[in-house]
Amino acid sequence: MRVLTGLQPSGKLHLGNYFSAIKKILDYQSTEDLFLFIANLHALTTFRSKEELKSFTMECAIDLLALGVDPQKSVFWVQSDVPEVTELTWYLSQSITVSQLQLAHSFKDKVAKGFVPGAGLFTYPILMASDILLFSAEKVPVGKDQKQHLEFSRDIAERFNAQFGPVLTIPEPDIDENTATVPGVDGAKMSKSYKNTIDFFGTEKEIKKQVMSIVSDSKAVEEPKDPETSVIFQIHSLFLTSAEKSVQMEKYKQGGAGYGDLKKDLLDSILGHFAPYRVKREELTRNLDYVHQVLKEGKEKAKKVAEKKLEDVRKTLGIYPF
Ligand code: ADP
Ligand code: TRP
Repeated sequence: MRVLTGLQPSGKLHLGNYFSAIKKILDYQSTEDLFLFIANLHALTTFRSKEELKSFTMECAIDLLALGVDPQKSVFWVQSDVPEVTELTWYLSQSITVSQLQLAHSFKDKVAKGFVPGAGLFTYPILMASDILLFSAEKVPVGKDQKQHLEFSRDIAERFNAQFGPVLTIPEPDIDENTATVPGVDGAKMSKSYKNTIDFFGTEKEIKKQVMSIVSDSKAVEEPKDPETSVIFQIHSLFLTSAEKSVQMEKYKQGGAGYGDLKKDLLDSILGHFAPYRVKREELTRNLDYVHQVLKEGKEKAKKVAEKKLEDVRKTLGIYPF
């Protein structure tokens, strides 16, 4: 089965990205036909600076390789390296209405926060549909915030097929209930744009600062605490087996452990979990030629698939040359 997902290089990767999209990709890699790309064209919709885009693009590539993305078992590339995706975006834009796009939550949320949107932010879901449909993805692992974007992709594909001919594969979202929305340090959805993230490849000091800033109530050390409502526990449980989870829950319920101690437990889990990947990441940082080579090979593999699909789409539409 073809599984595809993209990650925007718009900041450092955080635990929300890791548990909803990245970990899943890694699980799929050995059994499925995995396509994974760095969505740098999407990142332009909230563009900061050229230097930032360049460094986040490289960091994203390094981080994903460090976490275990295997270029032998997957196709891994940078979105802009396969410009066919922008041509398909234009064709697909005939198969969605302006009023549909006006319903996009992620667009509305950004505007509500005072962001002045470019037209690219408005048409963002069409580019995302193009990413998915160009590669005939069957399954798309994402967090819950992308659910509506996936619905747009399905609608676009269905309408296109009905209007012009059955060339596009209808994708299925792959959203895991347990990791659909990982909370940030303030309890709201963890997101780069809310500045409430835990960036697992930050320095130990940075991660400690983020963990220690997780919201909690003011219960004293000896008081029993409710794990179900604790953001610390919600994040920690992502790292734990069910047996470990029960042990940790008891620690909350019994009292005697302060929030500082419980945060320390979480910090240890984060540092322990990512320690081997951190070593790999440092090696890759010293070997950027290898990273560029991987992306170049990924580009070539992705391009072949994209060219073939675009050819079929052009034929279906009657695009010149016939
Ligand atoms: P951000 O919201 O921080 O900008 P991205 O938009 O780059 O993150 O998201 C990359 C992937 O991570 C997407 O599949 C998205 O759904 C997922 N994701 C981001 N934040 C969370 C979260 N808090 N919980 C679950 N999944 C998330
Ligand atoms: N919109 C996604 C996000 O912000 C990133 C993305 C771009 C994507 N194209 C995609 C995800 C295609 C899955 C499939 O997280």
